[in-house]
Amino acid sequence: MNEQLKTAVYPGSFDPLTNGHIDIIERGIKIFDKIIIAVLHNPSKKALFTVEERVDMIHKSFNGNKNIVVDSFDGLLIDYAEQRGAIAILRGMRAISDFENEFQMALMNRKLSRKVQTVFLMTGLRWIFTSSSIIKEAAQFGGDINGMVPKPVKDKLEKKFTAMQGKK
Ligand code: PNS
Repeated sequence: MNEQLKTAVYPGSFDPLTNGHIDIIERGIKIFDKIIIAVLHNPSKKALFTVEERVDMIHKSFNGNKNIVVDSFDGLLIDYAEQRGAIAILRGMRAISDFENEFQMALMNRKLSRKVQTVFLMTGLRWIFTSSSIIKEAAQFGGDINGMVPKPVKDKLEKKFTAMQGKK
């Protein structure tokens, strides 16, 4: 019998984590033994939160589940997934608009390595219009983002935008 844990890497920018991401992770952990939430460290992409802040918010949101771990990576995702002994890359798919980009990434990753499969879960209907960017935009102008992000993220968003307002 193969006793090896079935690990999936769930990569993303997570700037910040949303309830849509959580939905994918909670469903993913029913398929895989372990999920590594991997925050991309990409200095060329402007982000609201630092990688450390993003990792910290994810930690706080998943406190207690030892099979869900958080990490950050840079470079090629497929290399990272192999290094971590993952058998799959987990991605959520929202509307058709996600498809082309996801398809391209999955095919490129497959070209780079056949050892790791990309697995897609369709986003739950209630999260179909949720994205980190739209939530940041709403929060920035004082919009109600209750129920769209976990509490540690909501608190941090409020803090961040209050601090930014103070600087103006
Ligand atoms: O949350 P996002 O921004 O949609 O996540 C995109 C992510 C991090 C999955 C993607 O940009 C990525 O994997 N970047 C690392 C570089 C890489 O391996 N690219 C794909 C093969 S070209």
